[in-house]
Amino acid sequence: MAMVCLLDFEAYAEKYLPKIAWDFFAAGADECSTRDENILAYKRIRFRPRMLRDVSMLDTRTKILGTEISFPVGIAPTGFHQLACPDGEKSTARAAKAMGTCYIASTYSTCSLEEIAAAAPGGFRWFQLYIHRNRAVSRQLVQQAEALGFQGLVLTADLPYTGKRRNDVRNGFQLPPHMKLKNLEGAFEYGLPPNSLDPSVTWDDIYWLRSLTHLPIIIKGILTKEDAELAVRHGVQGIIVSNHGGRQLDGAPATIDALVEVVEAVRGRVEVYLDGGIRKGSDVLKALALGAKCVFIGRPALWGLAYKEHVEQGAQGHIQVASGDLIEPNEIQQDQVQDVALGSGQLQIWL
Ligand code: FNR
Repeated sequence: MAMVCLLDFEAYAEKYLPKIAWDFFAAGADECSTRDENILAYKRIRFRPRMLRDVSMLDTRTKILGTEISFPVGIAPTGFHQLACPDGEKSTARAAKAMGTCYIASTYSTCSLEEIAAAAPGGFRWFQLYIHRNRAVSRQLVQQAEALGFQGLVLTADLPYTGKRRNDVRNGFQLPPHMKLKNLEGAFEYGLPPNSLDPSVTWDDIYWLRSLTHLPIIIKGILTKEDAELAVRHGVQGIIVSNHGGRQLDGAPATIDALVEVVEAVRGRVEVYLDGGIRKGSDVLKALALGAKCVFIGRPALWGLAYKEHVEQGAQGHIQVASGDLIEPNEIQQDQVQDVALGSGQLQIWL
């Protein structure tokens, strides 16, 4: 099948990923109104097209925090890439490098920062931090990222507690036993506890981060002019206008709608980026026209991983279960699944 737009990859991933993985990637918080609004809001914005300009020379390159990228679309931090393909974040790092763009690796990666760095040497990467109650864990990760050549530190500000994603609750979602949060392995005696994130983080913690690293700090999750001003005053180098893909506060505005007030408040003092709902080139153009320096995509990169895995490895699009039957991946019920793995292009499910 010809893949002509990102939504084709979404449809492919929905068809071929195990339901628990698809539900986790697709989830928004509560009624998913913010997730959906991120996309709908672009459709309300129209261009004022001007004609007869010389457009024979096209150049999509831009710079973010001084580093050139080949086009103004980077990869937002998302966790658990091994749910989409066995190489997980290593594949994402290679793809970002091949495309000449920036990859923000998540704290919740299923590959370690070392593995990510080694998979695509010289690639342009930022590290995304969630601050844990155990500050020693966060400090160590920041310093490790800097030592490994990550070029920016992205502090995610919108997840003091995890949003309620209804299908994940229904599915009893958890990582399959053979996948680990590699960056946190060993940090917690009994695995990652549900309340390990620090909900007491405030603006003053930017100063704490500043004391740990020379990396530029980019704050992710800003949606208002007031917080944009605070971010600038606390010395960050960049702001990502983001609502976490609608996975946190359901009822938060679409990011493209919040962008304008953030850009106006910032008045060019720091760079402003955006993520959420970017699905086509004209969405990118709208965000740039409204003041973003570049945008990031979250879910589409995950669909790409799922597609790459199935197509490149020649998977048939069906799963052989222990009984020998062939079934469609999305027919599997979460409570049947004990373990999931992708090997030799074939999804294997232990039931
Ligand atoms: C995320 N996002 C996210 N953000 C972050 O700072 N750290 C993380 O670990 C994650 N994990 C994560 C997992 C999944 C499955 C999704 C879909 C999203 C949010 C992400 O960085 C970004 O803000 C949104 O994904 C952007 O919206 P789109 O492009 O998915 O519409």
